[in-house]
Amino acid sequence: MTGIEQKHDPPRLSSVDDPSMLIDWLRRTGAETPVHFDPERQLCQVFRHADIMSVVADWETFSSDDRHLVPQTDGFQTFTKGNLASLDPPRHHQLRKLVSKVFTPRTVATLEPRITELVDRQLDGFGTGEVDLVDTVTNPVPALVIAELLGIPEQDRAIFQRWAFDMVGLGGQVDVTDPDEAGDAMSGISRIMNDMNEYAFDQIAQHRRHPADDLITRLVEAEVDGMRLDDEEIVGFVLLLFLAGHITTTLTLGSMLLCLDDNPATAAAVRGDPDLIPGVIEETMRQRPPFPTSKRLVTRDTEIRGVPVPEGAGVVLWLAAGNHDEEVFERPGEFDPVRSPNQHLGFGAGIHFCLGAGLARLEARVVLRRLLARYPGLEVDRQAVRFYGSTSIVGPRLLPVRL
Ligand code: HEM
Repeated sequence: MTGIEQKHDPPRLSSVDDPSMLIDWLRRTGAETPVHFDPERQLCQVFRHADIMSVVADWETFSSDDRHLVPQTDGFQTFTKGNLASLDPPRHHQLRKLVSKVFTPRTVATLEPRITELVDRQLDGFGTGEVDLVDTVTNPVPALVIAELLGIPEQDRAIFQRWAFDMVGLGGQVDVTDPDEAGDAMSGISRIMNDMNEYAFDQIAQHRRHPADDLITRLVEAEVDGMRLDDEEIVGFVLLLFLAGHITTTLTLGSMLLCLDDNPATAAAVRGDPDLIPGVIEETMRQRPPFPTSKRLVTRDTEIRGVPVPEGAGVVLWLAAGNHDEEVFERPGEFDPVRSPNQHLGFGAGIHFCLGAGLARLEARVVLRRLLARYPGLEVDRQAVRFYGSTSIVGPRLLPVRL
């Protein structure tokens, strides 16, 4: 490997390294080389906000279809069929229209009282002294919310959480610029997916027999322009909601606490004025986006900011770097809960903009509001915090706090 390539490889992080190290590397590298193409690996890294926006806007040149990179096992094949995030138009457009119909802001808003109840139930289980917030709140709450939304029976929710936990562990091992590592983690993930698929097929059959007021029933019944989802697509979509909606939210909830710990003046202000909470969530998403990258595949020879990129190359969009681009954000290193506008890329952009952004924001709002109200003296035990030690997943894996 040459010196140039090393310079453009993200740092190896260990579980004790705060991912702010990754942000420092992104800011330095992106400032020097906004677009870097590595001919050996056929990989292009993009760091600037404007370039990321141009790439996501041009889905004909930059495809999201990564199905050929996915192991050819049954589990993955089923998942990819309903996985919106990996589809290009026109199929993406059709499926998104169908699922948006059932995943509306109104459906999400009705969940607030139930989410508050779930959070309070988790907090009721706290003793005194120190607790790990990942184990007790940030991991279970998003899993329980999605399970509830989908209509997964209560007695099965523990296994749902187990799958999520194992999946995050495997996903956290992936280095986004190293295809071999991605392959190893994928085969572990594939095994879990088979179990999840089997379970989801069974749930669909049960919901068809006994319709209820939940998302699986609505997916089974949804129709747009005479089109319905088949069972494999529903399974794929259910898994996507679970995978995309759980891990990311868990990481964001934890990172929010770390951001407040880094910024005591803001933490004090938020305690006095909970209206600042939405701004805290947006700044957390900007400064510590849980998925710091998004990926695309080049379908025809092109260039990005004048750098030629050939057909077949992979593109790593560093959303986390775009979020610190000085051309878009004044004083990007500053955590500013009243920053406006805040056009961060934490939820992606363009046609694949996160479908669950409203739900994630709602969960984050409820969790922070209830934590601050019930534990005004809550303090992060910074020395004991552990991370995923990864460039593909940013957020705490262990978050001990003193109550
Ligand atoms: C803070 C939490 C979350 C973050 C940071 C996040 C991040 C993202 C990002 C970056 C994308 C775009 C991927 C791309 O362009 O390649 C995306 C797409 C998506 N997200 Fe989220 N997400 C979060 C929560 C959720 C939740 C709670 C759900 C649902 C329960 C969800 C469902 C989806 C779906 C279905 C897509 C694919 C949309 C499409 O391709 O049209 N996400 N998310």
